[in-house]
Amino acid sequence: MSWMRWAPATERALYDPDGGFYRRPEGPAGHFRTSVHASPLFARAVARLLLEVDEALGRPEELAFVDVGAGRGELVAGVLAELPEPVGERLRVWAVELAARPDAPPAAPSTGLWTERSWARTVWTAEVPRGVTGLLFANEWLDNVPLDTGEVGEDGLLRYLEVDPATGEERLGGPVDAADADWAARWWPAERPGDFVEFGTPRDAAWAHAVAGLERGLAVAVDYGHTAGRRPPFPTRTGFRAGREVPPVPDGSCDVTAHVALDAVAAPGLHSLWTTQREALRALGVSGARPPLALASSDPVGYLRALGGAGEGAELTDPAGLGGFGWLSQAVRMPVPPGLGALPGWQTLTP
Ligand SMILES: C[S@@+](CC[C@H](N)C(=O)[O-])C[C@H]1O[C@@H](n2cnc3c(N)ncnc32)[C@H](O)[C@@H]1O
Repeated sequence: MSWMRWAPATERALYDPDGGFYRRPEGPAGHFRTSVHASPLFARAVARLLLEVDEALGRPEELAFVDVGAGRGELVAGVLAELPEPVGERLRVWAVELAARPDAPPAAPSTGLWTERSWARTVWTAEVPRGVTGLLFANEWLDNVPLDTGEVGEDGLLRYLEVDPATGEERLGGPVDAADADWAARWWPAERPGDFVEFGTPRDAAWAHAVAGLERGLAVAVDYGHTAGRRPPFPTRTGFRAGREVPPVPDGSCDVTAHVALDAVAAPGLHSLWTTQREALRALGVSGARPPLALASSDPVGYLRALGGAGEGAELTDPAGLGGFGWLSQAVRMPVPPGLGALPGWQTLTP
């Protein structure tokens, strides 16, 4: 047995250049469905948000769209397919991803700005760009930033859990360091023996680093998560492989993910909004409403298309599923864009 803390074990299992789960050619879509895969309506909403951000920024000379944790570029392709021609001259697109650029471009309708050329011009990089102006978007990225878990021992000390990467078996290790102890005290107090904590420290840092790449713009993190007062009663670490939930063994054979403490992630000192995907998508024009029945006789093809769209919209906004995801939006040196701005709850968090 080689015991390790969960963060380094997960880092190796997911991202090791030699055999890490996310380095494999099939990508995330080979194992589970995100909003991006569920429907093109998601990319349409993100494209609409990008255009609103563009307006709110006063149409900058160069408009950035940065997709962090870009998978195989599916969202980038979908957003490009929804954008009107004039934006193309000013648009710069970054797919930030640890895995290599896919050999072939992802499938997307040949509409809007989506062409082989716009795909070729997309910068594929492992580093979040610095000094850009526009929209930074991260769908289901933070839940894959490896974290440690701790538990209060019988001695009353908060200790790290260690894992055997070959089996997933756990044991209690040494006391947590000062940074994680402080994080727990602030965001996820654990006092009684058996209380556990999923330390958000590396996710907060990863998000702060990403947001700091924006000279001006909006940063949006979308993920399943929780906020203070609603921390989970059970550990949330989960494994996925080939469409199935499996035990989260960090051996490179499956995804290893855990819910995100989205309130802790919010980079301090910015104008911020926390809302659900249901509310955010509705504000961006996605609803699960069925088309009027009268359309069935006046335009049967249009009716069927609208019905399909309503089904997809319903899946994306289902409060018990994707619609229950959290959207953390943070404005950096820009006014709040009108679409999301219509939602209540924007606030400036004190540093
Ligand atoms: C759950 S997948 C989500 C993919 C896509 N955003 C979607 O919604 O379909 C998470 C992706 O984030 C990538 N990732 C994780 N940490 C990263 C990092 N530090 N920098 C860039 N990409 C990262 C993984 O390789 C993986 O492709």
